[in-house]
Amino acid sequence: MDQAEQLRNIVKTQNRQRHLARVITVTSGKGGVGKSNVAVNLALQFSRFGKRVVIFDADFGLANIEVMLGIRPAYNLSDVIFRGKKVSEVISRGPENIGFVSGGSGIRELARLDADQIRMLVNIMYELDNIADVVIIDTGAGISDSVINMVLSSSEVLLVATPEPASITDAYALLKTLKWNKEYREDAIKIKMVGNRTQTFEEGRELYIKLNTVVKKFLNMEMEYLGTVPFDRFLTKAVMRQQPVSLAFPNSPSARAIHDIASVLNRDGAGRTTARESGMAGVFTKMFRTRQK
Ligand SMILES: Nc1ncnc2c1ncn2[C@@H]1O[C@H](COP(=O)(O)OP(=O)(O)OP(=O)(O)O)[C@@H](O)[C@H]1O
Ligand SMILES: [Mg+2]
Repeated sequence: MDQAEQLRNIVKTQNRQRHLARVITVTSGKGGVGKSNVAVNLALQFSRFGKRVVIFDADFGLANIEVMLGIRPAYNLSDVIFRGKKVSEVISRGPENIGFVSGGSGIRELARLDADQIRMLVNIMYELDNIADVVIIDTGAGISDSVINMVLSSSEVLLVATPEPASITDAYALLKTLKWNKEYREDAIKIKMVGNRTQTFEEGRELYIKLNTVVKKFLNMEMEYLGTVPFDRFLTKAVMRQQPVSLAFPNSPSARAIHDIASVLNRDGAGRTTARESGMAGVFTKMFRTRQK
């Protein structure tokens, strides 16, 4: 049995036995457009809908989310892979009991794991699947291999874009890179656009129509529209206080907009069967598929 087959077998047996989390991957073409804020506030909203939520910070660059939540996790993913820590030890608890896992340097190290470490990592992800209903992955921005691989391995992707021209062209560039990747399967990924820092709700929809039109025409791809988060000084204030805006200012325009987006996602997710979904274990198995071939 080769390594790929072994991994598929682990996945098959575990899928029959275990609970799988719904994985929502948040990404963008350009940096600084609001991914981490969307991820954290969506997590809070899902938690308020009674879901067990874990945020997975896959952005190895800056410890964005930790700062936003005002928490300081003692360990990250690489402590599980290389230093024998338990999964429970790398999950920190943020406000309203949302879980948080820092990929830390572990994300960079994914590229050079050996077969045993990969198997261990997939098993770790099964543990995460068992304790979470929803896992929200915050990726780094842009078109690096690690972001592309993470996105290509996810079945539900939120693409955050602002009306800034550079954000629109970079979002297009990201989609183009996905489309041309040999691992891209149209029916395996749903891309849902979220506008951010728009002046009005109409501006969010216009942004979607603009981007979706060129994406359809030149890439023959389709995106859904989830909604938009308006530019909101309360969000900036909340960031300064190291609190998610949904916690610090729950009635602010941005918190309300994210609540509405979470409601749409929650409705989409209702009645979903786990059969065709893969959970975090599936995402990580897929991430290593190119190396298994
Ligand atoms: N809706 C909004 N209204 C006002 N300011 C916003 C809004 N969304 C984001 N910002 C501002 O943009 C900054 C960047 O947001 P955030 O950190 O969520 O972006 P990001 O895409 O995760 O960035 P990176 O690519 O660096 O990880 C925030 O600190 C905040 O000041
Ligand atoms: Mg970020």
